[in-house]
Amino acid sequence: MIDSLNDMDWNEVWKSRTKENRESSPGRDCARIWESRESALSFWNMCRQERSRIDKTVWETDITDESRVLDIGAGPGTLAIPFAQKAAHVTTVEPAEGMCSVMQEKMAEFGVKNITIVQKRWEEVDVVKDLQAPYDVVIASFSLGMQDIRAAIEKMQQASSKYVYLYHFAGETSWDRQWQELWPRLHGRAYLPGPKCDVLYNVLYQMGIYPHIRTFRLEHNQRYSNLDEAISALAPQAQAESEEQKAILGEYLRGALREEDGALLMPGSSIRVKMWWEKDLS
Ligand SMILES: C[S@@+](CC[C@H](N)C(=O)[O-])C[C@H]1O[C@@H](n2cnc3c(N)ncnc32)[C@H](O)[C@@H]1O
Repeated sequence: MIDSLNDMDWNEVWKSRTKENRESSPGRDCARIWESRESALSFWNMCRQERSRIDKTVWETDITDESRVLDIGAGPGTLAIPFAQKAAHVTTVEPAEGMCSVMQEKMAEFGVKNITIVQKRWEEVDVVKDLQAPYDVVIASFSLGMQDIRAAIEKMQQASSKYVYLYHFAGETSWDRQWQELWPRLHGRAYLPGPKCDVLYNVLYQMGIYPHIRTFRLEHNQRYSNLDEAISALAPQAQAESEEQKAILGEYLRGALREEDGALLMPGSSIRVKMWWEKDLS
C-alpha cells in the first residue's frame, strides 16, 4: 500500500480526473465552451466587473516595460491587454474563436498593438516555430485545460527565460456544485469536476519544481436582465438543448438567482491559487 502511494504518478491522476470530467460532461472542455462570441464577451464583462482580480494579477507579476510575456489561454485578453499596456510585447495562445475575436476587438478599442495572437491549443504549439521564445514571463491563468499537464508545464519551462505563473482552483467551486446538482436532472448522470491545485502541486513537486503559493477567495456575480437571458447564456454550458432541458435549467435558475437593483444575479464564489516560480531556482 505504502509502496504504491510512493510510486503514484500525479500526472496520471491529473489525466484521469480530466478524462472523467470530459466524459461526464462532453463538450464542457475548458476551450470549447468559449467558442461563441457571446460567451467570450460575457466573460470579458464579468472580469471587468471584478477588476481587482485583474489589477492584482498584473501588479503581482514581475514585469517591466522591457518584458516579453507569453499568456497561455488568454481568453478575450482580460490579462493580455493590461500586460501589453505595461510590457514590451505579449504573445497570447488562445484556441477559442469567440475569445480571439473579442480579443481583437478589445485590442482595437484600447489602442493596443503589441499583442500577437496564436490561435491554437497549448498542446499544439511548437515553441520554436509558433512563438518568439524565450519570454521573461509565461503565465497560464485559469486555463489549464490540458490533459497531459506535465508535458504542458515542460513546454512552459522551455518557453520561459525567467518566471512561470500558474493560476488554478482549490476545493469545490460554486459552478462545480451547480453542475453537480443539475447534471443528473439534465443528463441522467453525475458531473465529475476536473483536477484541482492539490494534484497540480504534486505534479510540480515530482518535476522538481517547488513553487511559491498564494491562496485567495474570489466572489463574482454574473448579472442577467431577466430569466430568459440567464437561460440562454447558461444553456450552452449546461448542454441544455431540448425544451425539456431548458425548462429544468430555468427551474433551477429561478431558485438560484437573486434579485438586485432590477437585475438578476448569479452569485459565484471560488478559492483560487497562484503558484509561481523562478526557472533557475526550480
Ligand atoms: C476562464 S478563461 C481565462 C482567461 C484569462 N486567462 C483570464 O485569466 O481571465 C480560460 C481560457 O483558457 C483557454 N484554454 C482552455 N484550454 C486550453 C488549452 N489547452 N490551450 C490553450 N488555451 C486553453 C480557453 O479557451 C479560455 O479562453
